[in-house]
Amino acid sequence: MKHSARAVAHANIALAKYWGKSDASLNLPAVPSLSLTLDGLTSETRVVFDSDLRSDEVWLNGALLSDRPRQRVIEVLDKVRKAKDLGLRARVQSTNGFATASGLASSASGFAALALAATRAVGLELDPSEQSALARSASASAARSIWGGFVALEAGAHAAEPIAGPDHWRLVMLIAVVDRCKKSVGSTEAMNRTRETSPYYGAWLDAAPALYARVRGAVVGRDLEALGEAMEQSTLLMHASMLGARPFILYPKPATLGVIELVLSLRRSGIPAYFTMDAGPQVKVLTLPEYEDQVKGSLSELPGVVTTIRATPGPDARVIESFTS
Ligand code: PMV
Repeated sequence: MKHSARAVAHANIALAKYWGKSDASLNLPAVPSLSLTLDGLTSETRVVFDSDLRSDEVWLNGALLSDRPRQRVIEVLDKVRKAKDLGLRARVQSTNGFATASGLASSASGFAALALAATRAVGLELDPSEQSALARSASASAARSIWGGFVALEAGAHAAEPIAGPDHWRLVMLIAVVDRCKKSVGSTEAMNRTRETSPYYGAWLDAAPALYARVRGAVVGRDLEALGEAMEQSTLLMHASMLGARPFILYPKPATLGVIELVLSLRRSGIPAYFTMDAGPQVKVLTLPEYEDQVKGSLSELPGVVTTIRATPGPDARVIESFTS
């Protein structure tokens, strides 16, 4: 007996950052965040619950996972099995259209696709908000990849909520890849260390809700200047909180700062371009379609930029195939 489903989800980049957990065991976010789901960056995940399997198998980009990465996937499978009172083991095969080439995090799109595929495979009917909560239990940012467009995740919330669809505002995000190495510290460990040791963590928690409100208002009102200012501050305060940790967490590389300098000089010449960074060295530059060529051209001339990936607001996560045999 095999119950199988395949789902696709898109990565998202936070415009107002989530950093820190209010409840580590439930994986609830300590601050509100708001993200943009991106069309270019997809994960596809197939889940097959199979009576012939003796244990769960988890494959990512063709490699068999073990230890904690495998366990995080199994925890999602266990929730699904429990809800359906099912004992079958599963094979999970996930591929990212972007991660290996770009060094970008794929947990958000990967866990959103996993939640959709695993529940559909066994016929567990969940609404998008329940799918979001399931994805969030593995990776809080994954809660936001259930929806396309602009998506919010409130502090302490179990599920994200859509703010506006992809057609609300045709922004362009250019991702300047400056380093393809795997990140040195994972986001969960980095968040824990920041909370436990950084004297700036409290300041981050105090500042984040107002930054989120500014980002949200700017997204609703389609005000790129207001969005850009709040987004950059959200990024910089998040990274400042990590710099204060012991040992410190420093994701930017020299070329990261080169891209930030370039964004500032583009702005001085009248081009609306704003930066954001996550738990890694790549810089995402937000601009409008009419300035895209100029921004992309300048980025590609910069020493240290390996490649630039273009993304625009993307759609909801979705199941693309399911069957039982
Ligand atoms: O959900 P996680 O554990 O991958 O954490 C993501 C944290 C950031 O990407 C840095 C910010 C965010 O809101 O996505």
